[in-house]
Amino acid sequence: MKATQEELRIKFKKALGEAFGDKYTAIDPILVPASNPKFGDYQSNVALSLSKQLKQQPKAIAQQIVEKLDLSDICEPPEVAGAGFINLKLKTAYLEALLKTIQEDPRLGVATAKIPKREIVDFSSPNIAKEMHVGHLRSTIIGDSIARILEFLGHDVLRLNHVGDWGTQFGMLITYLREVYPEALTTANALDIGDLVSFYRKAKQRFDEDETFQETARQEVVRLQAGAEDTLHAWKLLCEQSRQEFQVIYNLLDVKLIERGESFYNPLLPQVVEDLEKTGLLVEDAGAKCVFLEGFTNREGEPQPLIVQKSDGGYNYATTDLAAIRYRIQQDEAKRIIYVTDAGQANHFAQVIQVARKAGWIPDDVELVHVPFGLVLGEDGKKFKTRSGETVRLRDLLDEAVSRTRADLETRLQQEGRSETEEFKEHAAQVVGISAVKYADLSQNRTSNYIFSYDKMLSLKGNTAPYMLYAYVRTQGISREGNIDFDKLGANANILLREETELTLAKHLLQLDEVISDVEQNLLPNRLCDYLYQLSDKFNKFYENCPVLKSEEPVRTSRLALCDLTARTLKLGLSLLGIQVIERM
Ligand code: ARG
Repeated sequence: MKATQEELRIKFKKALGEAFGDKYTAIDPILVPASNPKFGDYQSNVALSLSKQLKQQPKAIAQQIVEKLDLSDICEPPEVAGAGFINLKLKTAYLEALLKTIQEDPRLGVATAKIPKREIVDFSSPNIAKEMHVGHLRSTIIGDSIARILEFLGHDVLRLNHVGDWGTQFGMLITYLREVYPEALTTANALDIGDLVSFYRKAKQRFDEDETFQETARQEVVRLQAGAEDTLHAWKLLCEQSRQEFQVIYNLLDVKLIERGESFYNPLLPQVVEDLEKTGLLVEDAGAKCVFLEGFTNREGEPQPLIVQKSDGGYNYATTDLAAIRYRIQQDEAKRIIYVTDAGQANHFAQVIQVARKAGWIPDDVELVHVPFGLVLGEDGKKFKTRSGETVRLRDLLDEAVSRTRADLETRLQQEGRSETEEFKEHAAQVVGISAVKYADLSQNRTSNYIFSYDKMLSLKGNTAPYMLYAYVRTQGISREGNIDFDKLGANANILLREETELTLAKHLLQLDEVISDVEQNLLPNRLCDYLYQLSDKFNKFYENCPVLKSEEPVRTSRLALCDLTARTLKLGLSLLGIQVIERM
């Protein structure tokens, strides 16, 4: 209902002008959704804000505005209430007509962006040969949802996986690889060294206990940077092995990403430092090249610089991000760059962005946003770990969600005396299990920590994926039971809103465009989750109160159309969260 709000605003401004003179058309009518449905749908507080200026009582001002307001197509006659609030109630006929247009629109009333933008979502971004941990899971799920929403709005989105595929750890890994798999380096075949994480652990162990090993590892780093062929070959093998492991997770989550790791920017790093030197921002501090910024201090309260070149000449994470900013602005022509990482990196991004800004690398029309998220905690409120205290492998975590869903499903089927095919059960468990993990993450305000609980996320009650999917299944059940093809309801399905629960549901259905714009700006997918949760709730209340199949025409068709619209809204909304629906469960 963005268009409705806009129209009301225009009409208010016109009335303000007519009542108090032309310059008042510039005043913001301060229209907000009513705080309580008994006051109507919208409220304007403008009369209160003009009281001083006009030297009149707000109530009198409100009265004069209302006299000039012509909203008869949209609202019931406006009411002045309390100290001088203007309350607006949308006309039922207006809502019915609006709903009708949405019903005929595959986008359900959500317009594409007027000015599509090139946007980069930098997300997931695990590190080669290291654990892809729950933090990366959060980044992957949140980033994917943000990307989906922006894509749906017609933006030109580049989904970048900024994998950690460069750095000194490769010296150690390659040295270890030469030690234990010498043959891997001479054959053309892909590497099969099993679990890369335990490989990393063993390599680290060798590194820590043996000085000769350390020295060789250091030489390997130099060789890698110099581009020595055999070292590069070993590096590629390791990256490829990791890539395959990550891909398993991306496939399970149905997430698409373009890999452009840290190594990609490697050739651009010297230029970054050189250009920073020219701006006069660089300072040498104990041999390292740094930039000092306001507002960043260490624990002792001393100024904390951003290091861009270490005393040994090496570059780091920050240098790479500076190079990436330049590349993304110049070559990719990004207008907004969104970084999805844990809140622990907030300082890093604040510093890097400030340096790039001071250096004049960020044009006015480009926005850089860090989208931070909190930690995933275990049910004990501590860092999420396995029972034996190890980090949880994502693969295991997702598998467990699926197998628990499967068990729940089997129990329910037995209770309901239903028998279903193996194929059905497998598909349902897969969809519901993965959706539950995604939804549990997305439905939290991302900035807070959240407690990972299979029991909670798999419950059919509450703000969970199963609850939402169940509401969808219910709508499909109606279509099956009545033998009705929702798609064929078509143009003659007039919508009549007579019952309170119908009106409440209808108004909510009309707000999808608002919530999606909100997420586009604020990058908080939990707002879409809330919207869908309320939608399911409002639908259930409607369903309890209003017989659908058993009612007479034209009410029957109208209610069927409401079921269909709810189903389509749920399906679309969930798809923007990366969640697939199922027809039965
Ligand atoms: N690889 C990093 C990590 O695991 C995340 C990278 C985020 N993106 C970026 N441009 N720095 O923490």
